[in-house]
Amino acid sequence: MRTTRNMRTGEAVRRYGMAAKTIRLRIVVCAVTALAVATPLHAIAAEHPERPERWYGQSRVESGEKVYAAHCAVCHGVRGEATPDWRRREPDGSFPPPPLNGSAHTWHHPFEVLARQIKFGAPGGAGKMPPFQGRLTDEEIINVLAWVQSLWPDEIYTQWWAIQQRSSQQ
Ligand code: HEC
Repeated sequence: MRTTRNMRTGEAVRRYGMAAKTIRLRIVVCAVTALAVATPLHAIAAEHPERPERWYGQSRVESGEKVYAAHCAVCHGVRGEATPDWRRREPDGSFPPPPLNGSAHTWHHPFEVLARQIKFGAPGGAGKMPPFQGRLTDEEIINVLAWVQSLWPDEIYTQWWAIQQRSSQQ
């Protein structure tokens, strides 16, 4: 199923006038830059397709799945389904781990915000999301996000893509 979501390069070129490989490369380069120097992900260049192509390929998804199983499933659920009642605070006032499968608000955030949250932990150290800096490489963080995004239905991915585009143009 996952591979069928990835459009063939030829089709992407026809629809968006740009090689899919170029789009993918730009996302990865920008994500790496964003993680390294903590700047926003500015340079993703693409139009506003109705059904954007997934930026990742199957190999990233497969690598990301292993990272996720080893480091994330314990809190976020085996397929990103935890915690169903994610809006309710814990007794100590913190929020529980939200679902990452597209049912909560993860898709409201551009890629670099998500990547930085994984690398540096909850913003301001307020929450209980641990920082993975030193435990995961930037590539592993990018791959784990590819796996997380592979769980999102097309409608959610499309809405995320629009948010991503806007953040890249600022
Ligand atoms: C110890 C439990 C724990 C582990 C392990 C953990 N997380 Fe989290 N995560 C949280 C909590 C709690 C939050 C909610 C934010 C906060 O308050 O810290 C969160 C938030 C997030 C968010 C932001 C979600 C959103 O909707 O804004 C992302 C993305 C995320 N985690 C991804 C991951 C990934 C990927 C891993 C594995 C590399 C991981 N987390 C491992 C507890 C955890």
